[in-house]
Amino acid sequence: MRKVETPEQMTEEYRSTLLKIVYALASTEFASVEQHHRWINQGPTAEDRFIQAQIAADEAHQGFIDCRMLRHFGKEGEDMADRLLTLRMGQHPIAAFNVPMESWVDVVGFCFCMDLVAWYHLRAMEDCSYAPLAREMTTMVGEEKFHASFGARRIKDLVRDARYQNLCRAGAAEAQQTIDKWYPHALDTFGSARSKFSELAVACGIRRWGNEELRRMWRKDIDPQIEKLGLSVPDAEKGRLIH
Ligand SMILES: [Fe+2]
Ligand SMILES: [Fe+2]
Repeated sequence: MRKVETPEQMTEEYRSTLLKIVYALASTEFASVEQHHRWINQGPTAEDRFIQAQIAADEAHQGFIDCRMLRHFGKEGEDMADRLLTLRMGQHPIAAFNVPMESWVDVVGFCFCMDLVAWYHLRAMEDCSYAPLAREMTTMVGEEKFHASFGARRIKDLVRDARYQNLCRAGAAEAQQTIDKWYPHALDTFGSARSKFSELAVACGIRRWGNEELRRMWRKDIDPQIEKLGLSVPDAEKGRLIH
C-alpha cells in the first residue's frame, strides 16, 4: 500500500477521518492518566506501584505523541491538541474514560479490560496508510500489550494467589465485580456497530478492522481468560450505552 506522509497528500475525507481518530485516541490517553492518578503509589506491592506508574507515564507519552501528530495539521490540529490538554475528568469525549477507578482492584480490572481494548485499537492501525501513525504503532502496540498483560496477571492473582488476596484484601468476588464494571465500558469503547466513520477509516486504510470486528476479536480473547479463572463472562448487552 502506498503511504501518506503529509497532510498535503490527503483528500479532505482522509484528513478529517484521520484527525478524528488521532483526537479520540489522544483523549483516551490523557483521560486514563487522570483515572490512574489517584492510585499512583497506592498499589499493594512495590512491583504494582512501579508498573502502574510506568503505565500512566506510557499513556501520557502516547498522548503527547498524538498531540504532536495533530499539530502537523496546522491551526485546526493545533487547536485540537490544545483543547485536549484542558479536558478534565467528566469532560472526556469517550464515556468510559470519565468513569473513576474506585479501588486498586478497579485499576487491575481497567488494565485487564480497557488496555486490551487499546491494544486491539492500535493493532488495527499497525502498518496503516498514514506513515507517521504507522511508525508510532511499533512502540505503542507493545506498551498496550504490557498494560493489558499486567491487568490479566493481577486479575489471576486476585482469584488464585492467597498472598496477593491478602495484600489487596480482595479476591475472586472483587475480581468479578471489577470485570462486571469495565466489560460493558470496554465493549462500548469500540463504538457503534453501524458507524459510517468506522467504515471510512477502513476504506482509507487507516484501520484494518471496523468497530464490530474489533469488538468480536476482543471478546474472543478476553472471554476464555475470564472463564478459565472460573469467573462469569458478563452479558454482552447489559449496561451498554452504545450499540
Ligand atoms: Fe494508551
Ligand atoms: Fe494502556
